[in-house]
Amino acid sequence: MSNPELVTSPPRRRASEEVAEGRSRIDWVGRYSPVLNGFVRRTIGDGALRGARIAVVVHLEAKTAYLATVLADAGAEVIVAGSNPRTTRGDVVAALRDRGLTVVAEPGGDYADWERELLAAADHAPEYVIDDGAELTMRMLRHRPDRYAALKGVSEETTTGTARLAALAAAGKLPFPALTANDARCKHLFDNKFGTGQTTLQAVLRLSNRQIAGAVVVVVGYGFVGRGIAQYARAMGARTSVIEVDPVRALEAHMDGHRVGPAREVLTEATMVITATGGMRAIGERDLPYLRNDVLLANAGHHDLEVDVDAIAAASSGRREPRDGITTYRVGDRDLHVLTGGALVNIAGGSGHPVEIMDLTFAVQGLGVHHLATTALEPGVHVIPAALDDAIAAAKLASLGVVLDPIRPEQTDDAADWIDGRDVNSEGTEAQ
Ligand SMILES: NC(=O)c1ccc[n+]([C@@H]2O[C@H](COP(=O)([O-])OP(=O)(O)OC[C@H]3O[C@@H](n4cnc5c(N)ncnc54)[C@H](O)[C@@H]3O)[C@@H](O)[C@H]2O)c1
Repeated sequence: MSNPELVTSPPRRRASEEVAEGRSRIDWVGRYSPVLNGFVRRTIGDGALRGARIAVVVHLEAKTAYLATVLADAGAEVIVAGSNPRTTRGDVVAALRDRGLTVVAEPGGDYADWERELLAAADHAPEYVIDDGAELTMRMLRHRPDRYAALKGVSEETTTGTARLAALAAAGKLPFPALTANDARCKHLFDNKFGTGQTTLQAVLRLSNRQIAGAVVVVVGYGFVGRGIAQYARAMGARTSVIEVDPVRALEAHMDGHRVGPAREVLTEATMVITATGGMRAIGERDLPYLRNDVLLANAGHHDLEVDVDAIAAASSGRREPRDGITTYRVGDRDLHVLTGGALVNIAGGSGHPVEIMDLTFAVQGLGVHHLATTALEPGVHVIPAALDDAIAAAKLASLGVVLDPIRPEQTDDAADWIDGRDVNSEGTEAQ
């Protein structure tokens, strides 16, 4: 399998050049992060995080690195690891180490290396974890139970990780509060939808150099991520189809104007298939007969197993790598092209989310850890207070120069008037 990191990383350079390149990338993020630079720095700079040990376990590229530096500037002792072995950038690691942060991740490693790195992060005894897919949290439970029991809180990035934390809580195995950043409106409404929508299409097209106008794009899973991908694909001229298992989401896809149907029907027309389910084997062995020659298969969900690459490999008579980031399997008389080995295509085969989107997501995460450190929350799964969500959106709008009208008293429908039996006329004043 080609290493997708090669797709995005330049050849190895001298150490000083790597540090300079990584620093430049991190500084670029800082330019477009008004919420982190303003509202977040002001809030978390109150001393509450001074000396707190925070593990940041998110795809280790420049935007994650910038969050780590903002936390470090607030006085936290930050331990940085990657949330996927294929998405760690060497120059960013070098720049963070040069700045004095603890980084337990190396680029180009395999899954066994990554497991060791996560356990090394656990051995730094973090009090708080900013996690992605609950990857460190789950491993601490299994392999470092004492450190797990000593955790003060977790702030989780993804839909998949949120489901894992909810399962832990239901099993009575979550002895600390966990914030599901993904459930904050300033996360999933923008990151999952617009961030993944834009960057998934960018990555698929850059890797394959194929045409989108007139292509048939099949999206598997119509959650926030799937909606964004389908919306961007259609805006670029594709015809879009959706495979869903939830009837409400499927109906929504239908009313949004996408073709909806079972795999055996919609896959037969697909030029590109993009998975976004958060589950496993969304495209698996039983779907292979329906795929056309030359179809592109890409994954934008959490698991590297949404496209069942092992099943495709087992059914194939041969494979080759026609371009960086593309593996072509010969299945019968058809070529099936798998992008970035089934890893998250927009991260392993692209630059990840736009900086402006991650400014919002990481604002949720940074403020989430501060909320955990300053609020006595019960063990279990929580969402950041709605007021904090509103404040993040307000800070973003202010940075964009957007001013809102406040709601005026006469614009509200006051239920108390009805309950008290007061008669309110059409002008909103009490009738005599
Ligand atoms: N690539 C990225 O940068 C990125 C960003 C955000 C989230 N994610 C990940 O994307 C995934 C989806 O996130 P979301 O917010 O859209 O989640 P979601 O729960 O809102 O949506 C997932 C949808 O997939 C459907 N689904 C599940 N299994 C299916 C199957 N086998 N076939 C068809 N449909 C199926 C569900 O019914 C649901 O509607 C998660 O794993 C999340 O962690 C990735």
